[in-house]
Amino acid sequence: MADLKVAVIGCGGHAQSHFRMIADEPRLHLAGLAELDDERRQKNQAQWQPDEAFADYRQMLDACRPDVVHVITMPGHLLPIVSDCLERGLHTSVEKAPGMNAVETAQMAQAAGHSRGKAMVSFNRRYFPQILAVRQRVQANGGAVHCAATYNKPPTLLGPHAPDPLICDAIHHVDLLRWLAASGPEQAAVATQVHGLVQDGPRDGCHRHNAVVRFDTGTFATMMSHYGVGARVQRAEVHGEDLSVYLDMTQGPQVEGYEKGEALALCDEEIEAVGGAGFNEVVHFTDCILNDRTPWSTLDDAVHTMQLCEAIRSGHQGAL
Ligand SMILES: NC(=O)c1ccc[n+]([C@@H]2O[C@H](COP(=O)([O-])OP(=O)(O)OC[C@H]3O[C@@H](n4cnc5c(N)ncnc54)[C@H](O)[C@@H]3O)[C@@H](O)[C@H]2O)c1
Repeated sequence: MADLKVAVIGCGGHAQSHFRMIADEPRLHLAGLAELDDERRQKNQAQWQPDEAFADYRQMLDACRPDVVHVITMPGHLLPIVSDCLERGLHTSVEKAPGMNAVETAQMAQAAGHSRGKAMVSFNRRYFPQILAVRQRVQANGGAVHCAATYNKPPTLLGPHAPDPLICDAIHHVDLLRWLAASGPEQAAVATQVHGLVQDGPRDGCHRHNAVVRFDTGTFATMMSHYGVGARVQRAEVHGEDLSVYLDMTQGPQVEGYEKGEALALCDEEIEAVGGAGFNEVVHFTDCILNDRTPWSTLDDAVHTMQLCEAIRSGHQGAL
């Protein structure tokens, strides 16, 4: 018997990753799914075998009575659905970007503040075991001096239900900078200063940014995000005293590290200590619900990530 009934709202491309994580988590049972598009609903129902499938998510919530809901629509559709789930007291996982702007994220955070349910934003980079193990090394060594992220892609047009690509998509690495620059195991750093340069390309969907950020932990960071360049490349680096780690997340995390000039590698014990190779955001949210703990990426915390994205996108100069 699973401990919690889960439901999924929005069954497009990225929902497949959530369905896989739910299927791999024995404490969860897939009670329902809701998808407006008939073909997608039927395809996902056949593949993932929920108890029931609906077009109308409210009917699904009434019929399936889930404990947990994963909302995986485009950002422009999130606010009313997430607010509704939280008003019903349901534990709610919100896909990134959490809304079209930081104001919408704050509105969802307010709904979470009044809810019996817990809410988390599915910033999945935070939950990669390799990232967690690297963070532990860096924090045990006194914290990050500097971190950097690169997030490059071909031209990207996300349509009317998404904010621009930096906020909707490169947000992964803006949030990762906050996570790598943190000083404690459960919190992310908060930006206090941003100097951004924006130079969009002549073609649509070619947003280009370079930004320098200072965090409240004292860590400096640089963020480079360019759409309409050679290929999809996602990298990050974090440096401490006598310690450097380079992360390539283009095909899943590859870790290259150095300590006092010597190569370092993560050992199996370090991965086990952060939950093991199978750890992810769904395992974390399930842990938090069953043990009454606060998720690491709450909606309140996500407001800081959204505000930092907006500052970088607007070429903000100075204190934040
Ligand atoms: N974390 C990651 O690595 C990652 C990767 C890709 C996408 N995403 C995010 O996932 C989200 C979804 O992206 P996608 O590519 O799956 O989009 P998508 O358009 O393929 O899927 C969204 C689905 O939601 C459905 N939907 C919308 N409103 C609904 C409602 N009221 N009730 C039921 N269904 C509804 C749509 O019909 C659609 O099928 C986006 O916010 C995107 O930023 C995250």
